Amino acid sequence: MEVIGTIEALRQRLARERAIAFVPTMGNLHAGHLQLVEIARQRASCVVVSIFVNPLQFGANEDLASYPRTLEQDCVNLEAAGADIVFTPSVSEMYPVPQHVLVEPSPIANALCGAARPGHFRGVATVVLKLFNMVQPQVAIFGKKDFQQLFILRDMVQQLNLPIAILAGETVRETDGLAMSSRNSYLKPAERMEAPRLYRALLQVVQAAKGGRRDFDAIEAQTAQYLTQLGWIVDYISVRSATTLLRPAPDEQSLVVLGAARLGKTRLIDNIEFAL
Ligand code: PAJ
Repeated sequence: MEVIGTIEALRQRLARERAIAFVPTMGNLHAGHLQLVEIARQRASCVVVSIFVNPLQFGANEDLASYPRTLEQDCVNLEAAGADIVFTPSVSEMYPVPQHVLVEPSPIANALCGAARPGHFRGVATVVLKLFNMVQPQVAIFGKKDFQQLFILRDMVQQLNLPIAILAGETVRETDGLAMSSRNSYLKPAERMEAPRLYRALLQVVQAAKGGRRDFDAIEAQTAQYLTQLGWIVDYISVRSATTLLRPAPDEQSLVVLGAARLGKTRLIDNIEFAL
């Protein structure tokens, strides 16, 4: 496995590759990320993983400075998972001058996580397009854990006619149901005990919908209130069409319930796809 830090060296190394699968990450890798590397491994002769904590997608009061950076351990894990190349550009390599050309993503980028994090998905879409142009993969793999991100990036690829197939990996969870996330390391012990409740609350929404309830507004409000009573600060609990991420039409069958809520300083997100 090679660790490459510059765009120039990356381009030289990849010039002779014909089948490249790409997994973009911000590092602090866990089993959720490594599952994406395994999917990549099955799809191409050359697997590239990027590790870059992208300032453009963090808000002013967010955790850019404290985001966990564990490059050495990440490389050990990536080598074992079968990655060929780890691309670790510096901020000045990615943004040598202020980035004024930005990708304006789907309008859905202003809803859900985008409502609480203005500009977040513009930063994600812009860095992913830059990385796509550097790596020029045939396949790129993203996790369903970030369902809205996956939706926005698929839409970007379609709208900009990028010749890249987007694949999705299922959400990998801890044994108690908590979705794996680099941000879980921020949780204090008592918060860590409480954290799986977000997933369980989303499961209850799924059960209610499968049981015949269609008053999604009421279910969402009840779920948010339940979590609030237990000390969570809820950004949203929302039932959406899994194909458009808009509010579901009355006869919609392919749905997803998404949630984002904070425990102390830690913002957790999760979602469950389901069919009626
Ligand atoms: P990061 O949070 O490091 O996630 C990298 C990839 O791993 C994303 O596609 C994410 O959906 C996936 N992932 C994270 N946790 C997962 C889990 N528990 N199960 C399955 N997949 C999981 O997402 C980003 O980085 C950035 O926004 C990025 C796309 C790299 C752009 O900067």
